[in-house]
Amino acid sequence: MANLFEIRGLNSVIEGKEILKGFDLSIQKGEVHAIMGPNGTGKSTLASSIMGHPKYEVTEGEVYLEGEDVLEMGVDERARAGLFLAMQYPSEITGVTNADFLRSAINARRPEGDEISLIKFIRLMEGKMKELEMDPEFMHRYLNEGFSGGEKKRNEILQMLMIEPQLSILDEIDSGLDIDALKIVAAGVNAMRDAKRSFLIITHYQRLLNYIRPDFVHVMMQGRIVKSGGPELAERLEAEGYDWIKEELGIVDETTGRA
Ligand SMILES: Nc1ncnc2c1ncn2[C@@H]1O[C@H](COP(=O)(O)OP(=O)(O)OP(=O)(O)O)[C@@H](O)[C@H]1O
Ligand SMILES: [Mg+2]
Repeated sequence: MANLFEIRGLNSVIEGKEILKGFDLSIQKGEVHAIMGPNGTGKSTLASSIMGHPKYEVTEGEVYLEGEDVLEMGVDERARAGLFLAMQYPSEITGVTNADFLRSAINARRPEGDEISLIKFIRLMEGKMKELEMDPEFMHRYLNEGFSGGEKKRNEILQMLMIEPQLSILDEIDSGLDIDALKIVAAGVNAMRDAKRSFLIITHYQRLLNYIRPDFVHVMMQGRIVKSGGPELAERLEAEGYDWIKEELGIVDETTGRA
């Protein structure tokens, strides 16, 4: 397996507060990694910092996607290079339909002059929406506007299935999903799993990992990974919580430092 994604010693600051502190992670092609961890330990900050969200200032460290320096890239370039984030709180965009948004997203990742034809695009979108058991009306609704919590999450997965990124970061994709939707979304992710694509799944609940079996589970505290293991680690967390890790490592405050 070849190395797909590598983060070394990443520090990230928001509003003058250091959130990520020496974060390290390597993901090989085809692997699924899960990150768990108490609230406020920097999981979403990690996702936003990787994607280049302007609010998060990376002050130290390196990020590579297939050997390319991600931190040197602009936000659009990162997406074109194959990074994708399904957000914990997807934003609503009035005036832009779901179909318009997705078509631009796909075309932005294709070479100029090789845009996807409207017919091909619609067929693709209809097919993927069917897989996700989404009502066709969502094609023409404004992006996320008035979508229920679960509908937003399903729509993030629709984007992922259509864009087919190299590395998909899913931030709490399971929060707000009912049990049937969870299974549908997991089936969508599993259908995309292959020897080349990788996933970084941020979740609080082991249940999701019953459906999307991870290769590795990492625990994040104080803005970095403090423990790694296999799926059995998630099972122990579900049963016992985080206190045993804090005791083992002598961590008193697991967050990134309260104001
Ligand atoms: N825009 C911001 N302004 C100020 N502080 C922020 C901002 N974004 C994040 N933080 C702080 O950074 C810390 C880490 O937040 P982050 O959202 O990364 O946590 P998380 O691990 O994703 O938590 P959760 O499990 O609740 O989603 C928190 O203390 C949060 O308040
Ligand atoms: Mg979060």
